[in-house]
Amino acid sequence: MGKHWWKESVVYQIYPRSFNDSNGDGIGDLRGIIEKLDYLKYLGVDVIWLCPVYRSPNDDNGYDISDYKAIMDEFGTMEDWEELLEQAHARDMKLIMDLVVNHTSDEHSWFIESRKSKTNPYRDYYIWRPGKDGREPNNWESAFSGSAWEYDPETDEYYLHLFSKKQPDLNWENEKVRNEIYEMMTWWLDKGIDGFRMDVINFISKVPGLPDGDIERGKKYVSGHKYFMNGPKVHDYLQEMNERVLSKYDVMTVGEMPGVTVDEAKLYTAPERNELNMVFTFEHMDLDAGPGGKWDLRPMKLTDLKRVINKWQTGLSGVGWNSLYLNNHDQPRMVSRFGNDKNYRVESAKMLATFLHFLQGTPFIYQGEEIGMTNVQFPTIDDYRDIETLNMYRERVIEGNEREEKIMQAIYEKGRDNARTPMQWDDSPNAGFTEGTPWICVNPNYKNINVKQAIEDSNSVFHYYRKIIKLRKRNPIIVYGDFQLLDEENENIFAYMRMYENEKLLILCNFTDQNRSYQLPNNIFHPVEPLIWNYPDLDDWEEMITLRPYEAIVLKGK
Ligand code: NOJ
Repeated sequence: MGKHWWKESVVYQIYPRSFNDSNGDGIGDLRGIIEKLDYLKYLGVDVIWLCPVYRSPNDDNGYDISDYKAIMDEFGTMEDWEELLEQAHARDMKLIMDLVVNHTSDEHSWFIESRKSKTNPYRDYYIWRPGKDGREPNNWESAFSGSAWEYDPETDEYYLHLFSKKQPDLNWENEKVRNEIYEMMTWWLDKGIDGFRMDVINFISKVPGLPDGDIERGKKYVSGHKYFMNGPKVHDYLQEMNERVLSKYDVMTVGEMPGVTVDEAKLYTAPERNELNMVFTFEHMDLDAGPGGKWDLRPMKLTDLKRVINKWQTGLSGVGWNSLYLNNHDQPRMVSRFGNDKNYRVESAKMLATFLHFLQGTPFIYQGEEIGMTNVQFPTIDDYRDIETLNMYRERVIEGNEREEKIMQAIYEKGRDNARTPMQWDDSPNAGFTEGTPWICVNPNYKNINVKQAIEDSNSVFHYYRKIIKLRKRNPIIVYGDFQLLDEENENIFAYMRMYENEKLLILCNFTDQNRSYQLPNNIFHPVEPLIWNYPDLDDWEEMITLRPYEAIVLKGK
């Protein structure tokens, strides 16, 4: 298996708006990030992924870009960004940027031109269609509720927006669009960045004709996923992008890909196909969603998680490469979702870190995860900021008359703002995030959960992450070892092995709040010594081992 720096790295994701505010306007900024680079270095991460910092009217917090080559005013200037890159590199950390090219903002100059007339040279930069029978051109639903089409009276046509109506989809069929994007990517790479995270990059090729989705009874709009996820030309486009741009640099790429299957992921990540290094799958993120989708809550079964993880670990092994994550800016906090943020917050945060970082792939840490930050429950909808959440609330509660408590509960469990509350630096007002009024309220638990506390406490989640990251640097088995799932029917303990040269690791994670005993697989594993464990002391691990609530232990053996 080819060895690469991006396989050996640990990535830290920054959501700049909520990370650190240096000028008191209540919004995180680039200088705020620069102030915290030593903190990130101390944590031990190798790569920083910066969520979008480009100029944007912020309908979707920067995922609606109006100028790819300018910095968002609230975040600072291009000079600040250049200093950030320089300072990160000076500390031997790399920087990857978010590439959002499925869509732009409707305030991007291309779109402003495009909507002017049907003959404008930029018309074909976007996806315009006439209405059908007095309605939208098809029945696709936007990811942020309602139709995926917006009528524009100026030219009496509709434009496609898979996300908000301020995020018109680019027309990748148009070679000029692709050339503009490749030129822009080159411009950033020439500034010295180390790669891209690519936003919904498997949505860029739509099935010609844009057919209607299969309508469910009683629904006005439906998912058109099968007509734009992993569409017919997506591999051609990525290969072209690779040839024209990426192949000229030693960079890492990770494509965000809702709905991607293992078989598709092999095509995207197999090195000889020259597309991307890795993808973000969503399969494990969908396990606690019912048939009604994300907001339809149901408990996750550990055996389902095992099935999915096993499929991805074995499926990409020796073919492509996995990315590893349990949360990000679009997902609830992992300790609240998969662990227990009440009685076992510290234990379960460490257990989940162990579970994830010992899998094969490149781990991604989302800001605040390293101190065990949790979900939040704001009392009213007025405290929420996320467009997905607000649109869903409007559609279901205000227009749809669904029960408010039920929808608020769904928001408490799944809403994206769970991950977007300000980073908790210390126990001073607003958690030390800002001296002004934060754009979104701080999680009230910041007095107990914050970086200052975590650094002072040698048993903190933070120091556990440092240890895990250090182990990765010293033990190639953690990066390159093969994966083997054990005991797949066990609903309580996630057990797996890693194998590399003459070495083995046994990873045991108790996903419950009860003691659980486990029979060590003595026929295939002979323990030598423990490598890391998340309780202060260790139980005997000869034959049967009893794992306490959310206990995790990694044994080295043969
Ligand atoms: C995925 C991003 O992670 C999310 O935050 C955004 O809303 C959509 N793509 C649209 O860009």
